[in-house]
Amino acid sequence: MPSKPCRICGDDTLHPFLDLGEMPIANAFLTADQLRQPEYKFRLRTGFCSHCLMVQLIDVVDPKMLFHDHYAYYSSISRVMDRHFAGLAELIGESLLYDRELPLYEIGSNDGILLEKLARWNPNAVGIEPSTNVAEVARNKGLTVVGEFLTPALANELAAKYGRAQLVVGGNVLCHIPDLKELAKSLDGLLDEEGVFVFEDPYLLEIVTQLAYDQIYDEHVYYFSVSSLSRLFESHGLRLFRVQPIPVHGGSMRVFGCRAGSRRPTESSVGDQIELEQENGLGAPEAYTVFAERVAQSRQSLIDLLGNLKREGKRLIGYAAASKATVILNYCGIGPETLEYVCDTTPTKHGLFTPGTHVPIVPIETFAADYPDYAFVLAWNHLKEIVEKESAFASHGGKFITHIPTARVV
Ligand code: SAH
Ligand code: TMP
Ligand code: ZN
Repeated sequence: MPSKPCRICGDDTLHPFLDLGEMPIANAFLTADQLRQPEYKFRLRTGFCSHCLMVQLIDVVDPKMLFHDHYAYYSSISRVMDRHFAGLAELIGESLLYDRELPLYEIGSNDGILLEKLARWNPNAVGIEPSTNVAEVARNKGLTVVGEFLTPALANELAAKYGRAQLVVGGNVLCHIPDLKELAKSLDGLLDEEGVFVFEDPYLLEIVTQLAYDQIYDEHVYYFSVSSLSRLFESHGLRLFRVQPIPVHGGSMRVFGCRAGSRRPTESSVGDQIELEQENGLGAPEAYTVFAERVAQSRQSLIDLLGNLKREGKRLIGYAAASKATVILNYCGIGPETLEYVCDTTPTKHGLFTPGTHVPIVPIETFAADYPDYAFVLAWNHLKEIVEKESAFASHGGKFITHIPTARVV
């Protein structure tokens, strides 16, 4: 089957490299009634464009099916992310804001985890958040949030109403936006002449080196490198002037950009990172073929480990019904025959079932009330935080399992 053209440059240079199979929507947790109905599924495959270097999903799910009035992900569930965004707000407040009056906009402000911190630095902080249930949580904190997808038309409307921005920021949202040409137009409409944009997204080099294949799911349309992202912005009159690797979500990249003609000089971090990416082969298809082979080995290691423990009669559960969990469980074929349940801190997920694999989701209290032998952490990016707060589990002889880069007992 001939591959589709690249979503960014339109060329027929998209090399498919990984096929994770038929996949339900990662955050489409099911009610008991829905278990009997067919689930929406799509083919989860990725490709690398050898022309513009963008790694991307080959088939994309309509964003309206993902971000709506019952979006399952509430950003504030993680203490680590809360601390992380406190650091980002401080950096922005201390070194990027340059005007008391000009507004700032946050794209994908979710429940206000970052926006509330930014609002302390700037009274004109406006969130843009199409998932209306999480937007409402932010509004209840007294924040200003527009409950829509960012489009060039909305950008112009906002600029007319509140003024052009000294800052546009987005955590884990740029990679969610299928049409990045439109996004670049929106930035053009929003940004003041010397305005700055800051985005943070999971970083391709980390995904490849750590075998973090579960970062690949419907919401993540793109897997950015600095090489691909700087080219993309440059083709739209924008420019990256600084990049900074950050540890969250298993390894992300924070990028700082401005209009191409801005007075800000481009710092050496941009060129250095691009060089590192080249050294690691991210500019050629071979690196991705090797990645796909290693992912298949990682999958097998998990199947073997869990299978052996089950045969020994051990009790296993899953910890954290993260979106990544959907990818792991479906790709590796793990269901209720292996995991008694998945426990999670998010109240709205309790009583529901994991998409595709139908494992019941229960409160964390269920886990603590009757510890199993093994807890498989389905949100490896939160492994440290989880192991620390569940020290009582270890005292009871319980053990954690992680699968990144290959399966092992922690
Ligand atoms: N920034 C938060 C939330 C990340 S989840 C954090 O880092 O934790 C991504 C969020 O972006 C979701 O809340 C989703 O509803 C929102 N989103 C998706 N597409 C968007 C778009 N085109 N414009 C604005 N927000 C969008
Ligand atoms: P994420 O990997 O997409 O950030 O999703 C995190 C999920 O993990 C979310 O459903 C909440 C859950 N979680 C816990 O249950 N306990 C925890 O300690 C943490 C950090 C997350
Ligand atoms: Zn391309």
